Amino acid sequence: MTTVSFCPSSATPDSTANAAEGFADVLVGLQYGDEGKAKIIDTLAPGYDVIARFNGGANAGHTIDTPQGRIALKQLPSGVFHPHAALYIGSGCAINPWKLADEIVQLRQMGISLEGRLRISARAALVQPHHIAMDRRGSDTIGTTGNGIGPCYADRALRVRNDTRVNLMLGDLLGNEAETVASMREVFTRMINAEGGASPWVAEMSDLLLGLPDIARMLRAYLEPDRGWLTHRVKAGAKVLFEGAQSVLLDVVDGSQPYVTSSHTVPAYAYVGGDLSPKYHRRTIGVAKAIMSRVGRGPFPSELGGERSAQYCHEASQSKLGEREEQSRFSPHTLLRSSDPFDVGTALRMLTGEYGTGTGRPRRIGMLDLAQLRDVIRTHAVDCVYLNKVDCLTHYTRSTYQGVPVRVHREALTADVMPDVLIYPGLTEHSVDLGRAGTLDSAMNGFIDFVERHIGAPLAGLGLGPERASLVSLANRQPALVAAGLPHG
Ligand code: IMP
Repeated sequence: MTTVSFCPSSATPDSTANAAEGFADVLVGLQYGDEGKAKIIDTLAPGYDVIARFNGGANAGHTIDTPQGRIALKQLPSGVFHPHAALYIGSGCAINPWKLADEIVQLRQMGISLEGRLRISARAALVQPHHIAMDRRGSDTIGTTGNGIGPCYADRALRVRNDTRVNLMLGDLLGNEAETVASMREVFTRMINAEGGASPWVAEMSDLLLGLPDIARMLRAYLEPDRGWLTHRVKAGAKVLFEGAQSVLLDVVDGSQPYVTSSHTVPAYAYVGGDLSPKYHRRTIGVAKAIMSRVGRGPFPSELGGERSAQYCHEASQSKLGEREEQSRFSPHTLLRSSDPFDVGTALRMLTGEYGTGTGRPRRIGMLDLAQLRDVIRTHAVDCVYLNKVDCLTHYTRSTYQGVPVRVHREALTADVMPDVLIYPGLTEHSVDLGRAGTLDSAMNGFIDFVERHIGAPLAGLGLGPERASLVSLANRQPALVAAGLPHG
């Protein structure tokens, strides 16, 4: 199979490597999640033999429209609709067995079988009922997704609590189902008793435990006990695409504490959580989006409306106020013309559908932060970037900004200058329409040059609409900063 590589990069596989061996590329989000990674993977998938997850669990989420209907996937890698591709879930992931089984059943109902295609590391951490209950109870401070991921990873590090082993792995459940379920029940019951028996989730968690033996039987077919499974495949020539969940700025150590997810999201972790030697790394692919968003709490330097927006979205998610309510209350076209950035942010959320895939929460909205992107790209040596939602930037032309506001380091190639906001003029709907039809006019080329100069990396593609066909490859375009002989990053 030939590689569909849209990533113009100087990074090539080591010339001394065995020519018959494969390689791995790592694709990560460069902002706060929800950059549209799945769409890019869908486009790149024909060039890979294995699509692999290495971190996170059901806290991730992407909705895919298929001829058979819409499906929301949380734990399965994005390549499910490419039958040639094997799917791997590495030991760095936290598996919610109930939700995973549900995804597999939904796919089966669509006529897609994963038998023989999906392998899940026996060492992946197992989300347990007490993890879900703990996360829901404590989700408010950080704004977690309530999937139990944080407590699950915490127990993995804790290993034993009150003399009971709590770092259970998928292999434990499938290897010794009765004992593992009994152990989960004991830990959950102990937690409830310590709280005076008043948990609102007792019935729900008991049901989960009751259903677990059936689920274990179903998942057994996909269990991979061999931690060298991916290595064997790559040695035999397989090309792997690692799919990062969440995004680099939410990394458990590297992100802004404590407003982060609980796993490592940085590209280097792909080789730990994905069970492959880093010797097979070829290139790092970043995905960003032009209308930025963040869910949950935490710093967001380019947020439209700043702290007011953060507070509004927090309260909205608590009172379960979502897209429908906002659409019935506000006119986005009126808000867009307001001189208040908070209103412009609300309008952009409504016009560009920025609501949580899993939770329906309104996402906080920010202007494109090229200064932040440049820092992330430098830190993680990202080779190329796909920029999604570029078409959505044209909404700004009807706002009081009269152009696209972007956060930049004023002199893009000088390290120690403070970020600033400037208005980029001249990106029109006409340019976007032409781009979708395959022609990059001078305005679009100018915008691409501008972005590349400020982030210090080539753009590999532009998302000019939600459909797969609206992803425009820039593979044949000579990146301006390379052409000008300017240093990368
Ligand atoms: P957790 O991952 O559920 O523990 O949530 C921790 C933080 O990461 C919260 O701010 C979440 O909103 C955020 N987060 C987790 N998963 C995603 C994702 O897939 N997209 C965007 N944000 C996420």
